[in-house]
Amino acid sequence: MAFDKFNLNSKTALITGAAGLLGIEHAAALLDSGAQVVLTDISEAGLLSAHVALARNFDTTKINTKVMDVADPERVRAVAEDLLAAGLRVDILVNNAAIDPKVKGEQGVLETSRLENFPLNQWNLQMSVGLTGAFLCSQVFGTAMAKDGKGGVILNIASDLSIFSPDQRLYSKQGLDESMQPVKPVTYSVIKAGLIGLTRYLSTYWAEKNVRCNALSPGGIYNGQSDEFVRRLSSLIPLGRMATKDEYRAAIQFLCSDASSYMNGQNVVMDGGRSVW
Ligand SMILES: NC(=O)c1ccc[n+]([C@@H]2O[C@H](COP(=O)([O-])OP(=O)(O)OC[C@H]3O[C@@H](n4cnc5c(N)ncnc54)[C@H](O)[C@@H]3O)[C@@H](O)[C@H]2O)c1
Repeated sequence: MAFDKFNLNSKTALITGAAGLLGIEHAAALLDSGAQVVLTDISEAGLLSAHVALARNFDTTKINTKVMDVADPERVRAVAEDLLAAGLRVDILVNNAAIDPKVKGEQGVLETSRLENFPLNQWNLQMSVGLTGAFLCSQVFGTAMAKDGKGGVILNIASDLSIFSPDQRLYSKQGLDESMQPVKPVTYSVIKAGLIGLTRYLSTYWAEKNVRCNALSPGGIYNGQSDEFVRRLSSLIPLGRMATKDEYRAAIQFLCSDASSYMNGQNVVMDGGRSVW
């Protein structure tokens, strides 16, 4: 049966940043396909709420949680050892954690999102989570996948901004001088484009060990943004709307299972067609 290839019954999937908007959706998708999931996040309270939310629809014996800062190599290694000791082999790694700085914009306040003012400590922090964190998790969990001959899947969650530059007009606020206008920060573009480089590198590095690596690039997800923002963004998207948070679930199921067994090193862009306009 064609659908058997989606079956993840004997697999364990670890998701980083699993307490966030999309992390819970990825977990639901993987649980739905039969996987054990390991939800990891820097926020313990967030993990608790994610667990409660998922427990409403899924078998709790299949849901594990671990506080894990992806930027802390010792913690990543400790989680890997704990899981191994508990008899859980990570077959699927979803590098999803990121810091998405909120775009603000206020008259008279230095707008630190702008390239001219962007603080080095923010650059380092965001890089350490979105890019270095994906490297560290891939190093630890990918090495283990390659080592025992069983292989595995690494999925990097990038963004449509991995393939094009942010349209800063989306974030502009009426009545503010140009130097005060908020923008999508440079880090987001660099991290997401970097993840595609990491994806290509990993896809060949352990290919002979049957470790595949792909990226998923979602477009903007509606999450209570202002009407004006939604209107502006929707006008750039052929489908005329933002995504709903559950619209990536089927892609996660495809990319993390044998259904995509011959897909490797690719960036699957799901942006409502924005990038083709
Ligand atoms: N929401 C969107 O519209 C959208 C669009 C395209 C791509 N994405 C990407 O999807 C992924 C998930 O986005 P989201 O909207 O769910 O974000 P979110 O902010 O809701 O969730 C991110 C999670 O990462 C966690 N986190 C932060 N620092 C961490 C660290 N050091 N270690 C471990 N976890 C840490 C946070 O606690 C949070 O739970 C991100 O990579 C994001 O860039 C999101």
